[in-house]
Amino acid sequence: MKGVVLTGGHGTHLRPLTHTGPKQLLPLVNKPNVLYCVEDLHDAGITDIGIILGDNMPEKVRELLGDGSRYGVKFTYLVQGAPKGIAHAIACAREFVGRDAFCVYLGDNVLKGGIRHMVEEFQANNHDAGIALCPVAHPERFGVAELDAAGNVAGLVEKPKEPKSNLALVGIYLLRPSIFPIIDRLKPSWRNELEITDAIEGLRKGGGKVKAYVVKGWWKDTGRPEDVLEANHLLLEDIEARNDGTVEADVEIHGRVRIGKGTVVAKGTVIRGPVAIGADCVIGPNTYIGPYTSIGDGSKIVGADIEASIVIGEAIIETPNKIVNSLIGRHTTIRSAEGRRPKGTQLVVGEGSTLFL
Ligand code: DAU
Repeated sequence: MKGVVLTGGHGTHLRPLTHTGPKQLLPLVNKPNVLYCVEDLHDAGITDIGIILGDNMPEKVRELLGDGSRYGVKFTYLVQGAPKGIAHAIACAREFVGRDAFCVYLGDNVLKGGIRHMVEEFQANNHDAGIALCPVAHPERFGVAELDAAGNVAGLVEKPKEPKSNLALVGIYLLRPSIFPIIDRLKPSWRNELEITDAIEGLRKGGGKVKAYVVKGWWKDTGRPEDVLEANHLLLEDIEARNDGTVEADVEIHGRVRIGKGTVVAKGTVIRGPVAIGADCVIGPNTYIGPYTSIGDGSKIVGADIEASIVIGEAIIETPNKIVNSLIGRHTTIRSAEGRRPKGTQLVVGEGSTLFL
């Protein structure tokens, strides 16, 4: 079985963070989202993986992933370019897939518990497609599945206005080459994309067996800032305490806190886990890092209070204001306005930024 990971799309809801790279590279607990997908595929025994590249700095994906040897897998890069839909992206893998069954993983999805059981069952049976479903509060934002009383798929609709169930389609699809002729016949949807949901519904209506797996753990699609923060939160629930850095005297550490190599936590600082701090950071003196925060490598956080946030890396944060539920991009500087004239908030903010002051 092969793997196909999608790293295209424009990530418009995550601007300005996606002005400098694809959304699939945004870190969750200091690790790019797409690596969680690769790990799940590897864990399911899938090591021959096609990476679909989009047109938003695809070189950054190649740079991160390389040939795959670092992750115990082999990557083949396949260029989609402009985002014409998930089904279009999958069609770009036609030659790569050949006659094999394959698992498509959207690079902005994270799933607790992995995909091994699904993949094993799919391989042991002759289903034409396998889909994963997860109950969600807002099914209208996703592809939605309707199941009959026996648990069989009775219909699949992309972003329905009136969803027939609360079961969203997770961005993981088990497919066979039989999907390609159906994609060939697809018409673009209202959002002008070739929808994988429509392709699998076409397969089903044509008599294909579509097996649904309802996921047991949690699942997140990290398309919007609040989803990225929530995925980070959920992943932090599982971290283990570890200190590879230096913690000075007069520092309080509560709960599970991971501190990377070369990081110094200076006096008067309080860290309340779960928290992950990368390598070569300076935290403190007199700083508070609260639960569900991840701080990427090379960051300097001095005299600040920060909680439930992601600092991607190499940021300088020296403000007396408390920062909460925030996504802070690489090389960002947040300093105190005290003593500056005129008094007030002073901003140098890029296109597509969002601030709550
Ligand atoms: O996350 C699950 C949802 O993903 C499903 O419930 C929906 O049925 C499915 O259509 C999809 O919906 P989204 O609206 O969230 O799709 P999005 O445009 O965000 O793209 C999903 C991923 O695929 C993302 O990592 C970007 C990538 N992509 C997307 C398109 C449209 C590509 O690589 N190429 C593309 O052309």
